[in-house]
Amino acid sequence: MKKLLFNIKGLLQTHDGITAVKRGTAMQELPQIDNAWLLIEDGKIADMGKMQDLPEIKGAERTDLSGRYVLPTWVDSHTHLVYASDREDEFIDRLKGKSYQEIAAKGGGILNSAKKIQQTDEDELYNAARSRLIDLIKLGTGAIEIKSGYGLTTDAELKMLRVIRSLKREFPIPIKATFMGAHAVPAEFKDDKDAYLDIVIQEMLPMVAEEQLADFVDVFCEKGFFDLADTEKILLAAEKYQLRSKIHVNQFNSFGGVQLATEHQALSVDHLEELSTNDIDALKNSRTLPVALPGCSFFLGIPYTPARRLIDNDLPLVLASDMNPGSAPSGNMNMVNALACIKMKMLPEETINASTINAAHAMQVDDQVGSIAKGKNANLIITKVLPSYGYMPYAFGTNCIETVLINGKKLEYN
Ligand code: NIG
Ligand code: FE
Repeated sequence: MKKLLFNIKGLLQTHDGITAVKRGTAMQELPQIDNAWLLIEDGKIADMGKMQDLPEIKGAERTDLSGRYVLPTWVDSHTHLVYASDREDEFIDRLKGKSYQEIAAKGGGILNSAKKIQQTDEDELYNAARSRLIDLIKLGTGAIEIKSGYGLTTDAELKMLRVIRSLKREFPIPIKATFMGAHAVPAEFKDDKDAYLDIVIQEMLPMVAEEQLADFVDVFCEKGFFDLADTEKILLAAEKYQLRSKIHVNQFNSFGGVQLATEHQALSVDHLEELSTNDIDALKNSRTLPVALPGCSFFLGIPYTPARRLIDNDLPLVLASDMNPGSAPSGNMNMVNALACIKMKMLPEETINASTINAAHAMQVDDQVGSIAKGKNANLIITKVLPSYGYMPYAFGTNCIETVLINGKKLEYN
């Protein structure tokens, strides 16, 4: 099955073969072919070029994309897409003055979500997550990482991970599962955190590994949640199962989590709203990828990850949605890109790199998605007629997407 997209105003993020992570000033480079054509064959990107060099292509379905841009779909490397119900009541409490941490300390927050997941059966959870994922694909997401961590019992954590496994089976996009048993200390272990950690490490992790339910492991390394010693225990346990880690760190406090993560070759450190010079130095001496989650900063009214400081220190940056019912109830990566420009002073080229190729590295799917390269999946965003690609973050909240192709096809879901 051949498809030819032609008269494309700008084909963005075009590369030959494998592309490394973009860092520092290279994040401003966005390779582009103006007035381009793109050939899709059997769901993969087969060839591309300038219109003036278009060869004769027989037997292809042709689509005229005059005035439109084509770019790789967004890669969302950090989400909590599986959950039982929303938490808009806590949102109202915050509007009335309570803080996110106060709500969590009173048994709301993650523990609230955990109670609901424990009471919800796998099918119901699956249907809710499935319909969220369909919405996100329509918004241009073509690869996604999904965490457990709202179960907090062995049964409920495994249930969440099985839901993610079912999503992997149904959806033809790259999906990665992350085991996050150490997301919060359940109320019944509030005076004996070590006993809960033992369950995570000695009971949950071996079962997760045995059933091959996770690609990565995560920990919420934060005051009031899991400290450095706890985090290190989980990292060491994960290493025994050859599971790389992606860690929630520095959301509210910087106290050495970044250094610990880099020493353990974590794949990514996510959040980083608080960032010290030591954190920057640790990142510079590592291959661990920093991930910013501006939707969480926007929603909670907390500082934004200092993107300019990271990039100006010649570091790479990844953007992700953090979609979850408590701190970021939107998985709209177009909005994430707009926030990164408006609030973090990133350039449109930098946000596109952060949300495509760099993000693909942050979930180890850079061989399949993240750029327009021959052999990669034809997971593509086709924009509406636009004056420039910078119009997308500029016109924040406006839907600039006309069509999303996954493996070269428009997905039909109901
Ligand atoms: O990434 N910070 C920890 N975990 C999630 C939010 C969890 C929740 O509030 O449900 C996050 O922000
Ligand atoms: Fe998160």
